[in-house]
Amino acid sequence: MQASALILAAGEGTRMNSATPKVLHGVLGKSMVERVLDALPPTKATVVVVGSGREAVEKELARIAPNVSTVFQAERGGTGHATRLAMPAFAGLADDDVILVLGSDTPLLRRESLTDFIAQSLGAAAAVMTAHVPEPFGYGRIIRDSAQEFTSIVEEKDANEAERKISEINSGIYLFQKGALISALAQLSRDNAQGEEYLTDVISILKGEGKAVAAFSINDFREILGVNDRGQLSECGAILRNRINDELMKAGVTIVDPASTWVEEGVEIAADVTLLPGTWLTGTTKISSGAVVGPRATLHSCTVEAGAQVSESTCDQAYIGEGATVGPYTYLRPGTVLGPRSKAGAFVEIKNSTVGPDSKVPHLSYVGDAQIGEGSNIGAATVFVNYDGVAKHRTEIGDYVRIGSDTMLVAPVTIGDGAYTAAGSVITEDVPAGAMGVGRAKQRNVLDWVLRKRPGSKSADAASRARE
Ligand code: UD1
Ligand code: CA
Repeated sequence: MQASALILAAGEGTRMNSATPKVLHGVLGKSMVERVLDALPPTKATVVVVGSGREAVEKELARIAPNVSTVFQAERGGTGHATRLAMPAFAGLADDDVILVLGSDTPLLRRESLTDFIAQSLGAAAAVMTAHVPEPFGYGRIIRDSAQEFTSIVEEKDANEAERKISEINSGIYLFQKGALISALAQLSRDNAQGEEYLTDVISILKGEGKAVAAFSINDFREILGVNDRGQLSECGAILRNRINDELMKAGVTIVDPASTWVEEGVEIAADVTLLPGTWLTGTTKISSGAVVGPRATLHSCTVEAGAQVSESTCDQAYIGEGATVGPYTYLRPGTVLGPRSKAGAFVEIKNSTVGPDSKVPHLSYVGDAQIGEGSNIGAATVFVNYDGVAKHRTEIGDYVRIGSDTMLVAPVTIGDGAYTAAGSVITEDVPAGAMGVGRAKQRNVLDWVLRKRPGSKSADAASRARE
């Protein structure tokens, strides 16, 4: 049977100390609520209860999950209250349809675990996912009778000393039959330590009515770890990072320092890629076999072909061809296409440009809105002057061109195949194939200037000695 889902996300998240609602805080590139939504198996309907930071949460939901509907909880009346308010949103379901209820701050949950839990729970009026944890403080405890049958959940603040010693806790993930849930929610009271309607009380109510309630514990308790503060946010991030890195290493990727290597789920990395320390890979980045990335490389939605090398660089939506080399200290911006065996070297910035096969931009250059052919070399400190303050213009460079150091290529301009430019030129006109473009003043030497204008200086003395 396909379940529906209810995500409780109205909490304040006070301990985050943030202007951003807790559920919108990111863990490895996705908000917590997106991670919870991602973990859901296909549902009949998904409803999210919003409250604190409602507008921001609804905006994010519209972006990531437009099919989800929201219910507004104006007052934080507890998890039971939030659930009760949401029930009308499931009016289309039958009484024996099941609803998975869960919080919004458990970013490590896996879909397989939820799928297994739902399968185990079908048939019970209510089922709870539990976990045995080393530090149960703060969680609701799972109470079992002398026959080990699950009877109720007691909150930390309402628990007695013996109950506090129980290490089996309530994960906050439940499966309910809709009809049973609605009737039990109508019976909740606020007669407890926190003065709230506890969703957890639904268990003892249903049990008291003789309905079947069940508790199933999850193997790896880390999956249900919740985030209440920024320390836990970073701990969850590290667990997620390690989970992804472990899978990559099993699949044949060398990761020299997993603790400093961050790879988002959308990234594809082939076997026999090497990731060096300090590497951060996001978006739809794709890396082919034999490539070496890092140390300290940031790649967002880039393609890195086989055998390419990218070190100490930031690259955004760039294509790095087979055997190309990038770095150190290179910035590749969107629309950069580096051909096979090409090079973008130290202190080079490239945007919206194609560098042809075997062409090199080795040092200290800016390349913007350009097409560079094959086997060309762009001398140090060349600037593609693409912007006149009003519009961007293109530069075309042919094959086997040699641009001299410190050339200003004032676009729009075309340099023909095999042409050269003289170092220090400001090139404002096209250079035909095979020509040498010279765009600089002719040098003249003012003889004895230093001897006349700076007499007695160390330079003048040195010049005098050279004369002797
Ligand atoms: C709850 C459980 C506890 C369990 C723990 C697991 C209850 C009474 N207790 O405790 O047994 O061990 O989760 O993490 O349910 N929320 C709303 N509206 C509200 C209150 C909460 O939407 O009025 C949402 C929160 O945003 C959060 C979730 O419900 O996503 C859980 O609320 P929280 O306050 O964290 O519950 P706990 O006290 O931790
Ligand atoms: Ca909590």
